[in-house]
Amino acid sequence: MKEDKKKVFIKNFGCQMNVRDSEVICGLFKKEGYKLTDDPKKAAIILFNTCSVREHAEDKVWSEAGRYKGSQASKKIIGLIGCMAQNYKEKIFQRCPQVNFAVGPSNIHKIPLIVKRLSKAQDAAKSRDLIKSRIHETNGSIRPEEIYQNGFYQDKEHAYVVISEGCSNFCSYCIVPHVRGRLHNRKHRDIIKEIKLALERGIKRITLLGQNVNAYRSKGVDFVKLLELVNDFKDLKGFSFLTSHPKDADRRLFQAMQGLERLKKYLHLPVQSGSDRILKLMKRGYSRISYLNLIDSYRKIVKNGVLTTDVIVGFPTETEEDFQQTHNLIRQAEFDAAYIFKYSARPHTQAIQYPDDVSRQEKERRHKIILDLQKDFSRRVKK
Ligand code: 5AD
Ligand code: SF4
Repeated sequence: MKEDKKKVFIKNFGCQMNVRDSEVICGLFKKEGYKLTDDPKKAAIILFNTCSVREHAEDKVWSEAGRYKGSQASKKIIGLIGCMAQNYKEKIFQRCPQVNFAVGPSNIHKIPLIVKRLSKAQDAAKSRDLIKSRIHETNGSIRPEEIYQNGFYQDKEHAYVVISEGCSNFCSYCIVPHVRGRLHNRKHRDIIKEIKLALERGIKRITLLGQNVNAYRSKGVDFVKLLELVNDFKDLKGFSFLTSHPKDADRRLFQAMQGLERLKKYLHLPVQSGSDRILKLMKRGYSRISYLNLIDSYRKIVKNGVLTTDVIVGFPTETEEDFQQTHNLIRQAEFDAAYIFKYSARPHTQAIQYPDDVSRQEKERRHKIILDLQKDFSRRVKK
């Protein structure tokens, strides 16, 4: 099949934040006259927007990128972007020589320009498989605001709106602060401007995105105040937010959830573990009892509120007793849904210094036990 030099294919790995980043990149390409395709065979430009949160997520990318080895693929421009680009830097090219460029999360606005430079190099080289240059961009820290303002959303009615980038919590197991950088809040005026534009284009529902939305603050506007501002849009049918951190969520947030008529009563509040000892090692900043008290107050204040969580099993040194504490908390909390992960040691994190001493089989056993338990509680959570 003949590929079109102006066609871009982007494959997304990972979370909603990556979904939005991919969309922003698509918007930038469209502005430059490129077309998007969901058929990689037709595309001259292939992008992998990657996730480093667990090793398993990275393995999926390595294997997908591996499919582009060889002569046919070398005619395409291949970019590996997002968290893995930041995590591995130049090493990407050693492991995947077919990749032409790697761009970290803070530099995504540079991608169309990089592609143009590579296309020119290809043209100049006459033969398209002669481009040998490798471009690597991982030094930036903050994205330019304009990239969010081009009004491009994949869905006609729903938009993800980023309110903050990065995270400054440094939970000991988590690579996010190391690859996405420290917390950076967008200005509330810019967020409101983006939402206004989105509504004018027919968007009806919004999800506000951040790694820890509760820590949002910009020029005297905190997260609850931001929710109030968003709720004022009369054309908005509904909105929600992701992700909350238990150490920063409080009764005032729950009162806003109960009181703001457009705000969905949906709270994703990752607990990660039910053991105080493990929570401390994870550097989560709350205890088992404070978490249980918090969800108790959520349920009392927010009538029929949905509650979901994340759990990590097999964190370094997690004993059977620690695990039983998690099991017990899950039974007590009756979450509407829980996402259970097996601990995966991540470079740059503090926890990589701890012994990854829970065996793979044991992690799998604990994972299955919690999944089975949660199945009893899971109700269908409407999106
Ligand atoms: N190992 C396993 N799970 C992890 N998460 C984050 N880092 C790791 C890790 N190193 C999980 C947490 C987080 C979710 C997005 O991914 O549960 O809330
Ligand atoms: Fe990672 Fe913790 Fe930040 Fe969430 S709050 S992104 S788990 S460091």
